[in-house]
Amino acid sequence: MHVKASSLTIFKVRKMVGMLCGMIIVLVGIMNTREVEGRKSRISNYGEYSAINCRAHTASITDFGGVGDGTTSNTKPFQTAVDHLSQYGSDGGAMLLVPPGKWLTGSFNLTSHFTLFLHKDAVLLASQDMNEFPLIPPLPSYGRGRDAPGGRYASLITGSNLTDVIITGENGTIDGQGEMWWQKFHHGQLKHTRPYLIELMYSDSIQISHLTLINSPSWNIHPIYSSNILIQGITISAPVNSPNTDGINPDSCTNTRIEDCYIVSGDDCVAVKSGWDEYGISYGMPTKQLVIRRLTCISPTSAVIALGSEMSGGIQDVRAEDITAINSESGVRIKTGAGRGGYVKDIYVKGFTMHTMKWAFWMTGNYGSHPDDKYDPNALPTIKNINYRDMVADDVKMAARLEGISGDPFTEICISNVTISLAAKPKKIQWTCTDVAGISSGVTPKPCDAIADQGPYNNIECEFPTDPLPIDDIQVQTCSYQRMYP
Ligand SMILES: *[C@@H]1O[C@H](CO)[C@@H](O)[C@H](O)[C@H]1NC(C)=O
Ligand SMILES: *[C@@H]1O[C@H](CO)[C@@H](O)[C@H](O)[C@H]1NC(C)=O
Ligand SMILES: *[C@@H]1O[C@H](CO)[C@@H](O)[C@H](O)[C@H]1NC(C)=O
Ligand SMILES: *[C@@H]1O[C@H](CO)[C@@H](O)[C@H](O)[C@H]1NC(C)=O
Repeated sequence: MHVKASSLTIFKVRKMVGMLCGMIIVLVGIMNTREVEGRKSRISNYGEYSAINCRAHTASITDFGGVGDGTTSNTKPFQTAVDHLSQYGSDGGAMLLVPPGKWLTGSFNLTSHFTLFLHKDAVLLASQDMNEFPLIPPLPSYGRGRDAPGGRYASLITGSNLTDVIITGENGTIDGQGEMWWQKFHHGQLKHTRPYLIELMYSDSIQISHLTLINSPSWNIHPIYSSNILIQGITISAPVNSPNTDGINPDSCTNTRIEDCYIVSGDDCVAVKSGWDEYGISYGMPTKQLVIRRLTCISPTSAVIALGSEMSGGIQDVRAEDITAINSESGVRIKTGAGRGGYVKDIYVKGFTMHTMKWAFWMTGNYGSHPDDKYDPNALPTIKNINYRDMVADDVKMAARLEGISGDPFTEICISNVTISLAAKPKKIQWTCTDVAGISSGVTPKPCDAIADQGPYNNIECEFPTDPLPIDDIQVQTCSYQRMYP
């Protein structure tokens, strides 16, 4: 019975105060009485979370006609809620709570100075009706969709040109129900590119944290043309044979921090991108100043951290540390090719533990996969200053397969203090190196001559910058919120 009073949202209270000034004394009286009689239940009715910004106003999806029965579509309630709450953008911002339940929904847009908060027992279920995902144009840096030429289905949770937007919760779930999309993809039945679970474009100050993402139709989290992005405590899971279920794909983004994430998927756990061939070159927006920390990844058919393959706007200053890989195809993989243009440079990785891998290191200079036949085969990427150190790997089939581009070698590669133990049936040759150049120190098994060991008297330690990036200075605050159960 105390829950009832608590379920009055702050903005509702404010509205009532405005509309029914005469009743204010009565209302306050009721609230005080309840506070006295139910302090304990009120306290347990508050939760805390950490966020880049707390919000002054709160509402529940049920206030907008939401029904959490798993079968009623909530696309309209979500969009109505967001549109309504957008009015508080200049008045302390607003939070939309999703209570326990199964909330079926199609794509909806977020707004600025806004938090979407999922209760631990809340499940957002992606609609199986493709009409619930409006068609949007291809990304300018890609020129076409990834799955098919032309348009894309809007992502489940999306937003453009926003500032200060948070998607978080108590590890509540977003279930993409991807099976239908995977089947259509496998059978060549898609005329447009599959939706992602979360895509934010042209936005600044983004937090995506403490959520569980399962069975995405395709990529899971895709920030693009955005800056100042904090991604924390995300669990991502999809069948390891599901197509293109990449975990987190920062794409033409500046100043991004990804930490404490656990990802099992059918594609790269983190794929750093910046546009595709001639479209990415002309858009010219790199991904830079990216921090990845404390990532655990299982990706039997793909990489723990991929750089590319779409890297035509450039990738620069990536710092990854404390990474654990289990049963994955490769650790760090650079994917590029003639036609891509752009660059991958100033890459720093340290503290990487790998168990059961096909390759610890992989660089691919002939990735192929072009948007169309208009790409310029003379647009060669620059790959340089790649630093890997302090790594241990066991049950590895092959230490490294490093393949640059003929006439366009990958240079300034540095690998130090890396111990790789081989699988029961390893490859006969442990290092293959073509069109690459660099140095190594304290690496077993012995690297190829192109990455020659500098000898015990010239112990080198590959670089890892110690100065913080601006994203390291972003502070999160502890916010409290009123749990509201319908
Ligand atoms: C969502 O945002 C996109 C891009 O700004 C816009 O085209 C679309 O109409 C919006 N959808 C709704 C339902 O407001
Ligand atoms: C969003 O920002 C981009 C880049 O600045 C701009 O091209 C686009 O028109 C903006 N979209 C809207 C809906 O304001
Ligand atoms: C969310 O999951 C993380 C990692 O499993 C756990 O440490 C944390 O306590 C969980 N938080 C809540 C509110 O359940
Ligand atoms: C070598 O790497 C291991 C982790 O794999 C680390 O514990 C150790 O401190 C490193 N050694 C040096 C000399 O940095």
